[in-house]
Amino acid sequence: MSVRILGIESSCDETAAAVVADGREILSSVVASQIDIHRKYGGVVPELASREHLRQIVPVVREALAQAGLSFSDLSAIGVTQGPGLVGSLLVGITYGKTLAHALGKPLVPVNHLEGHVHAVFLEAHKSGLVPELPAVCLVVSGGHTVLYEVRAEQGTHAEAVAQLHYRKLGQTRDDAAGEAYDKVSKLLGLGYPGGPILDRLAAAAGTAPAPLKFGPIKMKGNPLDFSFSGIKTAVLYHLRDHAEYTPEISAREAALARGERKFEQLLPLCSPQTLALVREFQNTVVRDLRDRTFAAAEQTGAYTILVSGGVAANAQLRSAFEERGKSTGIRIFFPSRALSTDNAAMIAAAAFPKLARCEFADLSLAVSANLRLA
Ligand code: KG4
Ligand code: ZN
Repeated sequence: MSVRILGIESSCDETAAAVVADGREILSSVVASQIDIHRKYGGVVPELASREHLRQIVPVVREALAQAGLSFSDLSAIGVTQGPGLVGSLLVGITYGKTLAHALGKPLVPVNHLEGHVHAVFLEAHKSGLVPELPAVCLVVSGGHTVLYEVRAEQGTHAEAVAQLHYRKLGQTRDDAAGEAYDKVSKLLGLGYPGGPILDRLAAAAGTAPAPLKFGPIKMKGNPLDFSFSGIKTAVLYHLRDHAEYTPEISAREAALARGERKFEQLLPLCSPQTLALVREFQNTVVRDLRDRTFAAAEQTGAYTILVSGGVAANAQLRSAFEERGKSTGIRIFFPSRALSTDNAAMIAAAAFPKLARCEFADLSLAVSANLRLA
């Protein structure tokens, strides 16, 4: 019989549960997003997030079991996100996971959210019958994280579902995460929250008007595999402040958002060619920086593969930029689908599988770890 793990994820603003068999077959995956609740505040409000997790956790887990056609007694173990994330949000998932594991007499497996993002890529590859070759470099790039890891298997070059993986941190952001920069620039431009999806589409529609502001390559002292995105966000802030001509269109977009008109088709006509060119320049700079540092990391570590995961991995330009560079360098690139890129519980259940095999269980003393590190 297969090993079926119920994954529970509640580290940020998604309440998620999923059942995964043998670490790779997704039997169900349910995600309750809180975006509509946090949108009007322009970002995640921790207090509201925990309250919403409390409301959602029971129905979301029930739905995950129903979709998998299983009952609690069919489960082999419970995998739950221990951190990193928002304390109050994590607490809801952990408390529920502990109670469930205790009541059912099943093992409880604590999972690092970031290791979950790495496993999301393996889950997606498995759907196409592929197993990414190791060593790999994994870029986890979301609203909360921008970090590069080297991923190695204990033995061999394949990330079999049960393989114990080893991680080495190669670099990380020193200030904002890339998704956070998207969200902040979007807010400055009156384009709403979250910023990534809308800026991605507006950049593609920008045409060839010259950019009103040019960003050179992002430069920092020290580790060349670190990131920094707060400088370009601040440059956009000052540029908008110094050029009053942007004010009427920003106000018009904010008024549209207040009316609930936040679709690309509704916002595009409210953007001047100058604004679109600014968005294009912002996205070009972020994508180029993520690509160049990730490929530098792969070259430095002799990686065969690059894995990209997290909400920003859904970015269309980022995907094509990585694919293109991958072709010219001979490095295989793996992305999860959109559903597996953003926070979900299937990746948590998948990451719990090798830990279950090694009996890495937690007892009822398991505590939230808001700053848990992977390496
Ligand atoms: O992984 P995720 O759902 O949540 C965490 O932050 O953990 O990622 C959400 C982030 C947001 O900052 C959002 O703006 C960004 O991912 N994002 C994108 C795109 N879709 C989502 N950023 C750039 N381009 C996109 N297409
Ligand atoms: Zn995440």
